[in-house]
Amino acid sequence: MANGFTYKEFSDDNKYIALSAEIMAVRARGSVPLACIRTYGCQQNVADSEKIKGILAAMGFDFTDNSEEADFILFNTCAVREHAEDRVFGNVGALKNIKRRHPSVLIGLCGCMMEEKHVTDRLYKSFPFVGLVFGTHSLHKFPELFYNAVSVGKRVYETGVDDKTVYEGIPTMRDGTFKGWLPIMYGCNNFCTYCIVPYTRGRERSRRPEAVIAEARQMISAGYKEITLLGQNVNSYGKNLEGGVTFADLLRQIDSIEGDFLIRFMTSHPKDCSKELIDVIAQSRHISKHLHLPFQSGNDRVLKAMNRSYNREKYLDIINYAKEKIDGLSLTSDVIVGFPGETYEEFLDTVSLVKEVEFTSLFTFIYSPREGTPAAKMPDPFTAEEKSRWFSELLKVQEKIAAKRCAAMVGNTYRVLVEDTTDTQGVLMGRTSGNVIVEFEGDNSLVGNFVNVCVTQARNWILKGKVII
Ligand code: SAH
Ligand code: SF4
Ligand code: F3S
Repeated sequence: MANGFTYKEFSDDNKYIALSAEIMAVRARGSVPLACIRTYGCQQNVADSEKIKGILAAMGFDFTDNSEEADFILFNTCAVREHAEDRVFGNVGALKNIKRRHPSVLIGLCGCMMEEKHVTDRLYKSFPFVGLVFGTHSLHKFPELFYNAVSVGKRVYETGVDDKTVYEGIPTMRDGTFKGWLPIMYGCNNFCTYCIVPYTRGRERSRRPEAVIAEARQMISAGYKEITLLGQNVNSYGKNLEGGVTFADLLRQIDSIEGDFLIRFMTSHPKDCSKELIDVIAQSRHISKHLHLPFQSGNDRVLKAMNRSYNREKYLDIINYAKEKIDGLSLTSDVIVGFPGETYEEFLDTVSLVKEVEFTSLFTFIYSPREGTPAAKMPDPFTAEEKSRWFSELLKVQEKIAAKRCAAMVGNTYRVLVEDTTDTQGVLMGRTSGNVIVEFEGDNSLVGNFVNVCVTQARNWILKGKVII
């Protein structure tokens, strides 16, 4: 027990894996059971889906992108913005016909939206063909819930059950072979007033450092070249653990592992981003020279209303310290336009902050009310049209900055991990340590390797380059 959280091994649930495997061997329409998993939202959900796939693989499943041929269809949902919710309901509705054509198919929903009561109530009432629903807190019970759904044949709903336990050892089937996600903590305690995540993912809890480091070592020996440490607020890593370990300590330990690999992490919260952390990045061998540090707004009144616990000055302080210490630093951020009551003048503070920092790229969102959050009850006098005008204004400013930053990279050589082919034959792509995408010609055999690429051309924010042998 560490500050109210318990740590447990997942393996207790294995009996349901074997039992489900027996049922699915008979129930599958083809020679092996097939699962179609669709994942929405952020990397936390992607990492959860990789665990679900790990469990399904242990049950004998293979995977397909074609929902028509699947024996199990699962949507892993996101609740962070309104349109995410609308999309999921639309897509679930479309599955009704598949269930009619293939009555044995099990349709399931999981993820953040399933921890919202108004959503599961609506699902239960309007979508009776959905046979399995479980929330983020019940991931470790997936084998048992799945077994109940396929053996009893009644609808299984399990949501809102937070047992305050961190489960280790859940099988994971990673999507990539050289780039992988590594969750270091779950949940969030920050309660930013606009955000649903603390309600859907529960209280912040860190995995033990030994478990994280052991998994990082395994990934590195399995050939992973890029590991992204995940958490909603990685800077507060360790707060619920005994022993006073911090995120900077964890990074230092992973950085000391031998091998040729890159460490990325997300997301950092400015309120807990320590100078020590920046020093660790600056002195590291393996950590990317990239900081994704969401500021959300450049105006102090709005930041306070958002409950972000820092102001513009403190944010710029960290940014300036990081720029000074980390050579070739690349900065990215998230920003919300049109928070309830934000005026045009307050929005202009966001624009001026963007101009001052010169981010490599920005993730810009128009505020979207989330039921149950404090901001959803705040007066919101500005129209969608006004907000969308401001939003375009901000995008234009950022596009210019991105183009300027890209142009300044021409002539320089960067080490990139060749990660994927683009649509054009013979053209590869990779990301610099600062997470900027460069396209270049090369042979497919380079995928998964680090190469040096000299940037030869910048077209707006798309970089072209040449491999340097
Ligand atoms: N934990 C991370 C991000 C979580 S959600 C952090 O704190 O930075 C990712 C981004 O979605 C947020 O940074 C925010 O910019 C945006 N977001 C969250 N809730 C939103 C809402 N209700 N409306 C619009 N954007 C939102
Ligand atoms: Fe949401 Fe704020 Fe937590 Fe990020 S830090 S997940 S924005 S509550
Ligand atoms: Fe969405 Fe949940 Fe991530 S709400 S953004 S999938 S933590």
